[in-house]
Amino acid sequence: MEHLAITGMQRLAGHVSVNGAKNAALAVIPAALCAGGVCVIDNLPMIDDVKSYIDVLNRLGARAELLDNHTLRVDPVHVAPVTADFDSAKKIRASYYVLGAMLGRFGEAAAALPGGCNFGARPIDFHIKGFEALGAEVIVEHGVIYVRADELKGAHIYLDFASVGATINIMLAAVNAKGLTVIENAAKEPHVVDVANFLNYIGANIRGAGTNTIRINGGERLRGGDYTIIPDMIEAGTFMIAGAITGGDVHVHNIIPKHMESVSAKLREMNCVVDEDEDSIRVRAAELLSPANVKTQVYPGFPTDLQPQMCALLTTVQGTSIIRETVTDNRFQYIGELERMGARIHVDGRQAVIDGGAVLSGTDVSASDLRAGMSLITAGLAAVGETRLANLHYVDRGYEDLDEKLRSLGACVERRGAVKSDVGSYI
Ligand code: UD1
Repeated sequence: MEHLAITGMQRLAGHVSVNGAKNAALAVIPAALCAGGVCVIDNLPMIDDVKSYIDVLNRLGARAELLDNHTLRVDPVHVAPVTADFDSAKKIRASYYVLGAMLGRFGEAAAALPGGCNFGARPIDFHIKGFEALGAEVIVEHGVIYVRADELKGAHIYLDFASVGATINIMLAAVNAKGLTVIENAAKEPHVVDVANFLNYIGANIRGAGTNTIRINGGERLRGGDYTIIPDMIEAGTFMIAGAITGGDVHVHNIIPKHMESVSAKLREMNCVVDEDEDSIRVRAAELLSPANVKTQVYPGFPTDLQPQMCALLTTVQGTSIIRETVTDNRFQYIGELERMGARIHVDGRQAVIDGGAVLSGTDVSASDLRAGMSLITAGLAAVGETRLANLHYVDRGYEDLDEKLRSLGACVERRGAVKSDVGSYI
């Protein structure tokens, strides 16, 4: 089986550039289903989830083709309302965006219940509540969600939790609903803003994205257009933390430093020197880092998608640190594997208490999800000896060229075992 072998204790130093944001790409690609003409989406990360989504679009009748490794052309004119319950749709959680986009455009849609990373219960009841508020009937049967409406009408929708997925899905449907939709307690994540910017660029009328109230005046005629995806704040944060755990000096480029504020602030609190300029951040780790308390929160709080990597870092820092996970359930599944590497962590519900200063040692470990895999790679970078990470396919869902990028910073990492299937089989 393919795995990543990491020989630890190499100090990371140098420059690295991040790709486009995974979670923005996985929403802007289906948003192109709402368009009235050809869309060209640029700065896409070439990761497995994006390859799966390209397949989903083609099966729905959109002509989606890569112009180069980071640019996708989508012609949605010939799309037909068919069920997206094939394998590629089941693989990715974000395939649920097909529901909002197709419901708005055709008044009906069906998609397999979402797959993706399996960390705790991740229901989609807020999405369903939103579609129903817009006038749709929703039926879940045999693992497939069916939505249909004679006419979608704008509505006032309050989300019980500022869910990224529900906010985007409701926006996708509401751009084609009649009249005004208001989403209260909307998610403010940068990728929510990116999808709104894309939809506005092709003719929609969405105001307030990035605040907790989003107003969508539906029914505008949408056209096609070219769009560039924002940089990936989670990939950027991953390299910032990877630099810190190795006592390194890593300069991360092609980012929006404002998106990184919670991460930069936490690393500064821990004694790292973090310098920003217009589109890059340099992190230099002090010889002795301080422990920290980290609480994950919706944006602009500390992102749950960086919690596992931060936990790996804190296991190596002398003193007691506490992580509180408030966004997702059961996102500590990787901790058993970190403990096998020598970490000392006590988990109590949504809280992990870390008795830091452990000397990690490399061993065979396995990823249970995307960021869990990244946590173990981060730990492996600081561990004595060789760490071998299995289930690498999870990590490939979210990071483009991860091993090459780590090597360019001085890490000793190597992919071993079965070779990945080539890009062609995904498109
Ligand atoms: C998105 C991201 C994921 C990130 C998460 C939180 C994508 C493809 N994935 O996932 O990487 O970790 O945001 O920033 O963009 N919830 C409900 N009912 C719902 C929706 C959500 O109970 O209908 C709860 C669940 O406990 C869930 C939590 O809210 O775990 C967060 O969900 P949400 O913000 O919607 O995240 P996702 O869109 O699943």
